[in-house]
Amino acid sequence: MSETVVNPHVYQENIDFWDRAWNGVRAPYTQLPDLEYLPKILEIFQNAKPGPILDLGCGSGWLSVFLARNGFDAVGVDLAAHAIELGKMWAEQESLKIDFQVQDISHLTFADKSFAGIIANSIFEHLTYELAEQTATKLKALLKDGGVFFGCFDMVGTGPGEYYKLEDGTHVYTDKGRKGMLLRCFSDEELKRLFADWQIKELSTLESGARILIATK
Ligand SMILES: C[S@@+](CC[C@H](N)C(=O)[O-])C[C@H]1O[C@@H](n2cnc3c(N)ncnc32)[C@H](O)[C@@H]1O
Repeated sequence: MSETVVNPHVYQENIDFWDRAWNGVRAPYTQLPDLEYLPKILEIFQNAKPGPILDLGCGSGWLSVFLARNGFDAVGVDLAAHAIELGKMWAEQESLKIDFQVQDISHLTFADKSFAGIIANSIFEHLTYELAEQTATKLKALLKDGGVFFGCFDMVGTGPGEYYKLEDGTHVYTDKGRKGMLLRCFSDEELKRLFADWQIKELSTLESGARILIATK
């Protein structure tokens, strides 16, 4: 994987945005979001081969906690060190064993075939197309044979805000609250292209416009 797939300055501003956003949070968000697809996540991973599940861009870790509460061996990664601290705090409060690590998606350091499953909830939207492409390839390598990927891709970028666009359509926000944040809405066609060499089991659209994509290696 290349060092950075976007101008390094732009990418650094994106990292700084997430660090700032998480540094202002004093305690983990311990309320699980009311998402209709939570039971499906369990069903998909329960039917997968046994092994660790990677929670990509885990934030303060609600999905890792949800998985661990349900008996999965969860590994949560996020580039924001403070988010990972919050996740560790939460896991400790519940005496859950979760492997939280600070890692940038563009430099994942796990060995190939480490995971039985990977979940990416509301995270690809924060990658450029090129980085998303490289990430899909990397995730496939990280999965064990027959491993399963579960992604939720939000319908984003239609609200108000100040930004400029990169060539691939990624928004780079310039307004005070979100300065530096990358945001990109992936079309169904793009999602199919990103996962073209996987076996796509499901590509569906929720009422919110978010897409669920489930694919196996
Ligand atoms: C919209 S939040 C989603 C968090 C969580 N997955 C959820 O469902 O609530 C995006 C998360 O991805 C993290 N993030 C953004 N870009 C990342 C990158 N390149 N590598 C690792 N984490 C990243 C942010 O710090 C943030 O916690």
